[in-house]
Amino acid sequence: MSQQRRALIAGNWKMNQGTSAGRELAKAIVAGASKAPNADLVVSPPFTILAAVASDLAGSPVELSAQNMHEKSGGAFTGEVSAEMLKDCGCKWVILGHSERRQYFAETDASVASKTSSALAAELRPIVCIGETLEEREAGKTLEVVGRQLAAFEAIIAKQPGVAAIAYEPVWAIGTGKVATTEQAQEVHAAIRSQLAKVSQQLADVTRVLYGGSVKPDNAEALLGCADIDGALVGGASLKAEDFLAIAAAAR
Ligand code: 13P
Repeated sequence: MSQQRRALIAGNWKMNQGTSAGRELAKAIVAGASKAPNADLVVSPPFTILAAVASDLAGSPVELSAQNMHEKSGGAFTGEVSAEMLKDCGCKWVILGHSERRQYFAETDASVASKTSSALAAELRPIVCIGETLEEREAGKTLEVVGRQLAAFEAIIAKQPGVAAIAYEPVWAIGTGKVATTEQAQEVHAAIRSQLAKVSQQLADVTRVLYGGSVKPDNAEALLGCADIDGALVGGASLKAEDFLAIAAAAR
């Protein structure tokens, strides 16, 4: 982690937590937030409890994120939610292009780019996810795939340097307990940062690049100790306040 970028630790609750469990989790994170003085904390509950969790986070430093949005601002898109609607119910952030969305909901580099642009226009801060599958890694294509995914939205985030964050999540490390080694993660994070530097040095300097994929309290310190890892996007371990806070407390 670099001195000039404050750590960002975001919990992606995915399709977990009903109202009472989610609100309890949010309140426990708020209560323990002072244990992580060196990190910005974000929680990302499912749509159905965003408004309730927003009221639990009110007055705390913990910020609210959604897990997805539609790129249009409104209209006949049954089942969808816009950036403006997310802002309206208290979100500051939105996760975009998560590998589960790319894999199960046919999101493409182009749709992720268009959502990134709409989020920024609505003053919602995107956490844009990129990452290779196991097959792609084994074929030696990691940097090519990640580079292509980043190229789709780099010019868009360059218009407001530091507003968006990027999450590098190797698909093979998500929910599998198989964390990338610090060397594997740092290599990709460094490549992401040098690609950002080709767009603008300022963009490279201020963009927080998070690592995601089986981040746990026992591996957080090593990952967050890497020069180009500026935080974590946490899945499973973000559902336990104690574990999420322990990960955030590992940020120096
Ligand atoms: P896990 O931490 O459960 O591996 O999930 C990572 C992730 O997908 C966060 O977005």
